[in-house]
Amino acid sequence: MEKTKVGIIGLGTVGSGVARLLLDHGDRTARHAGRVLWLEKAVVRDLNKPRDCELPDGVLTDDVDEVIDHPEIKVVCQLMGGVDRAREVMLRTLESGKDVVTANKALLAEHGPELFDKARELGRSIAFEASVAGGIPIVANLSQCLSANQVTSLHGILNGTSNFILDKMHTEGAPYADVVAEAQRLGYAEADPAMDVDGTDAAQKLAILAQLAFGARLDWRDIPRSGIDQVDLVDVGYAQEMGYRIKLLAVADLKDGHLDCEVNPALVRAGSPLGKVGGPFNALLANGDAVGPLFFHGQGAGQMPTASAVVADLIDTAVGRTAITFRTLGLWSEDLRGVDQGDFAASTGKRYVRVMVEDHPGVLAEVTGAFGEQGISIASVLQKEPLEAGGVVPLVIMTHAASEAATDNACTKIAALPSCRAEPTKMWVRD
Ligand code: NAP
Ligand code: HSE
Repeated sequence: MEKTKVGIIGLGTVGSGVARLLLDHGDRTARHAGRVLWLEKAVVRDLNKPRDCELPDGVLTDDVDEVIDHPEIKVVCQLMGGVDRAREVMLRTLESGKDVVTANKALLAEHGPELFDKARELGRSIAFEASVAGGIPIVANLSQCLSANQVTSLHGILNGTSNFILDKMHTEGAPYADVVAEAQRLGYAEADPAMDVDGTDAAQKLAILAQLAFGARLDWRDIPRSGIDQVDLVDVGYAQEMGYRIKLLAVADLKDGHLDCEVNPALVRAGSPLGKVGGPFNALLANGDAVGPLFFHGQGAGQMPTASAVVADLIDTAVGRTAITFRTLGLWSEDLRGVDQGDFAASTGKRYVRVMVEDHPGVLAEVTGAFGEQGISIASVLQKEPLEAGGVVPLVIMTHAASEAATDNACTKIAALPSCRAEPTKMWVRD
């Protein structure tokens, strides 16, 4: 059988999974590729670190040039993480005439236009299924299977680490900090887990999906975002009491020719498809004008789910499918500029607002009055007894649909009330 020689740069969580699939299940990949995908070289920084896979002699190296300059390696899996060094290595790999498969969304969100232009110029391809939502084949679905549609919205849980942490907070009441360490140990988190919990990783993935679905060339930094590091266990409890779950939601809505994008913790109904997404799983609710609503669900982080997406890309690249899609899609090309980002302050929706106030007569009227002045109608109010007489009480308010700007104005007014003891906490409610 014909052989396609493969190099892997980065043999950590994902790279080891890819090596295991190639070495332990070569028959499977050969059946689907019609050729053997032969692991020729794997590059790491530290040759002495224990690996999560067993490699034949001579495969492991700490010299990246052994892959880039290898005359017989045709496809390179770039799984080293980071941005600057990864960019340099990817450019050199393309220039040496090799196709690239990557899971590195930070790199694509930062340098996608440059890298894709370079690959096109050189007649090479970049496959990146694993860069968004781990094992869920969302890139292929958005770029190929939905091509008869205008996608009108994407609402997704795109960070497995955040979902894992929020799920533990909901189901075990576990404090946030304890669960972060567990997510790292299980291989879900980025090398710098701050990127997971502050919304960066989800915003980078949303920028990639927005390019695929809407042709939007967004700088991920321009996507309004906050992360789960802002989520307090008390809000998890109140959300639960009201029949909701808090999820880190990445949202892109096409409205009047503009794209409203954001990444924020939001309340979703506990029994809804997104509300039921547990552990490190990801999900995406997409709407197309022809197909209607679609729901994708699967493991969004972790060794084997991510390796599953990488190896599928490897097969597509080895047999030539990626080259055709890559060329025809024209991703991130100057000729394919799609929609622009809308005005976030104008976006509307229901809100959850928690206010910590002194418990005295008239305080409820003061707080609800601030919403009334902004024309915001209140759907429900939950007030808890203070722990001690005259103590501080949480007022949990659910509003009807209101704009971001009006909600901000109401919260600013409330924060300035003498009876208010802390900045109000606010989150979207996505029913
Ligand atoms: P990781 O466990 O930290 O592995 C990174 C690997 O790259 C390590 O083997 C490391 O070598 C190697 N490396 C780093 N810098 C290098 C350099 N300058 N030269 C040579 N090798 C270098 O990371 P990971 O979790 O596998 O993630 C890899 C990529 O996939 C990242 O872009 C990440 O965002 C993305 N991703 C990860 C997941 C996931 O669930 N983990 C899911 C989807 C996408 P040493 O081992 O010797 O240190
Ligand atoms: N750290 C990422 C996450 C890995 O938790 O979703 C998958 O991209």
